Amino acid sequence: MTHTPTPPQADPGTPWAGSAIHEFLNHRAAAMGAGSWASPAREGTIPLTGGVPDPDALPTAALLEATRTVLAREAAPALEYGGNYGFPGLRELVAAEVDPQPGLGYGVDNVALTSGSAHALHNILDTFLNPGDTVVIETPAWGGIIRHLRGAGAVIEEVGMDEHGILIPELDELLTRLAAEGRRPKLIYTIPTFQNPMGITSTHERRKALIEVAARHRVLILEDDPYGELRFSGAPVPSILSLAGGDGVIRCGSFSKIIATGLRVGWIQASREYVDAVTRMRFDNGTSPFTSRIIAAYLEAGNHQPHLAKMRAIYKAKCDGMLSALEESCSGLATWTHPEGGFFIWLSYPASTDPKALAAAASDEGVQFIPGASFFAKGGGQHSLRLCFSYLSENVQAEAIRRLARALEKAR
Ligand SMILES: Cc1ncc(COP(=O)(O)O)c(C=O)c1O
Repeated sequence: MTHTPTPPQADPGTPWAGSAIHEFLNHRAAAMGAGSWASPAREGTIPLTGGVPDPDALPTAALLEATRTVLAREAAPALEYGGNYGFPGLRELVAAEVDPQPGLGYGVDNVALTSGSAHALHNILDTFLNPGDTVVIETPAWGGIIRHLRGAGAVIEEVGMDEHGILIPELDELLTRLAAEGRRPKLIYTIPTFQNPMGITSTHERRKALIEVAARHRVLILEDDPYGELRFSGAPVPSILSLAGGDGVIRCGSFSKIIATGLRVGWIQASREYVDAVTRMRFDNGTSPFTSRIIAAYLEAGNHQPHLAKMRAIYKAKCDGMLSALEESCSGLATWTHPEGGFFIWLSYPASTDPKALAAAASDEGVQFIPGASFFAKGGGQHSLRLCFSYLSENVQAEAIRRLARALEKAR
């Protein structure tokens, strides 16, 4: 029999009785509220929610081998502090092989390692934002950046997108209006490739136009690109950082989606002054040298490209499968994006379909998705939702889409 310990009871006579924590939280933490994760579903529910790699295709054997190599070859430096910039061997590999920026001549000094790209974003906001500064985000936006910005005390402004990327005239107008109000934003946040949540990729032309408008208004672009290597169709588009010649852009990358989320290693890549600046605001004694060296050994052993090729094939099959299932059962009930890579499909349904009724019907049917409204900082998105095709097997996904179709039917 398991024993559940009884939590210590506060003595009502002590000065610490009651919920004293609210006296101590800072304004930003108090304003945050609970996490935005979907509520637990009943048993048998199929989740189309989590943006994580296929668990059956994680490169476990290669990581085990790399771990052995590191402990046999370089145990002491792997198990000691590694400094604020991170393990130079991996920074070099990021610049040369994992996330090369053609024409920029970048190397070790242009990369700082972080504990995932979530931490990279946190580190950047910590370095550049004062509370009350304005940041523009493309919308719908990854929910994580909305929480990060709220946590940083930023004022969020939104700019819309179509299937080709950020709407440039809308951005120009917004930045002109904000300048007139004396509120020049510090940053524009964008995921240009296989966007989370829409799955779309910004075109070459839109990227160039974004660079032009941002430079004219003197606003930095924050390019977040954890999915870019997971392209399974179409032609690659150069990064915003490389198109901008390295000026006015800070780029974040991650090993989370291309190897495994549990590694917690990502990076910031930019011109050297920006990389130096962000390391001023590192107070965590650096990203794990142990994990960083394991990743470097994994890359040196030649695992990277073959694993990427395998993942691209898997995600192509899963995405095609989900698109066919949508075609078969959701035509006439909704429309959706057709990604060329990444993890996500964005589905929009007519205003006549009630989002609350859909949530209830989906719960009855046993399927879970992230409602569109959670990707909007200032309201909106009610008639949309995000589907993730990376995690589940094709059969299970197809069943989930049939359930979603029945829920859409009931709610219309
Ligand atoms: C767009 C985007 N940026 C950043 C992250 C954070 O990823 P990690 O911290 O695991 O690198 C995620 C995770 O889902 C994401 O979708």
